[in-house]
Amino acid sequence: MGTDKDTQCKYSPLADDNDPIIIRICTIEDLEGVIDVNEKELPEDYPYFFYKSILDSYPESFLVACNSEGTIIAYIMWRVEKTPSTNSLKLVNKGHLVSIAVSKNYQRRRIASTLLSNSMEKVRKYKINEFVLEVRVSNYIAINLYKKFNFFIQNIKERYYRDGENAYFMTCKI
Ligand SMILES: CC(C)(COP(=O)(O)OP(=O)(O)OC[C@H]1O[C@@H](n2cnc3c(N)ncnc32)[C@H](O)[C@@H]1OP(=O)(O)O)[C@@H](O)C(=O)NCCC(=O)NCCS
Repeated sequence: MGTDKDTQCKYSPLADDNDPIIIRICTIEDLEGVIDVNEKELPEDYPYFFYKSILDSYPESFLVACNSEGTIIAYIMWRVEKTPSTNSLKLVNKGHLVSIAVSKNYQRRRIASTLLSNSMEKVRKYKINEFVLEVRVSNYIAINLYKKFNFFIQNIKERYYRDGENAYFMTCKI
């Protein structure tokens, strides 16, 4: 775990001191709030132990954003996988974006952008060669966001989601 300086930044997405947003590393006490945001904003939900295992294994890149009342209003979590490189059979470490979501009332304030840039910096410390993620082909908002971070569509994973929707598999080389 890093120092306060590493783990906590005060960030005002609206440049409005009445509504400051704190971005910091997730703690175990935050998990209920993370699950709450996930359940409201995404159709994919996970059991508590899944969040806990990501927090235990990759704590530095599991970030949350909180409002001035301390309520969790966004999160991002990553894991690291050793899989064949997209260009060769060589096994490489990849940073896999597991999930990101921002509560509806706080969207479009660059919170996701800040979470992504801060966490990608942390994931790089796991000596990865690329970042990867899946996103619903209909989720143009998230696709726009990822393209801004230099992700591009590598291929389509057919019927990736439980409801049968396809996913774009997006990658970002380092
Ligand atoms: C996708 C999501 C995380 C974006 O969060 P956000 O904090 O609103 O995003 P930001 O304000 O940082 O926006 C960054 C970029 O995303 C894109 N974007 C965000 N909202 C958008 C919208 N309503 N329409 C089109 N593009 C949008 C834009 O490219 C934007 O850059 P710009 O503001 O310079 O145009 C948020 O909409 C969300 O939580 N959605 C539900 C959960 C989800 O879909 N997660 C991704 C699963 S793969």
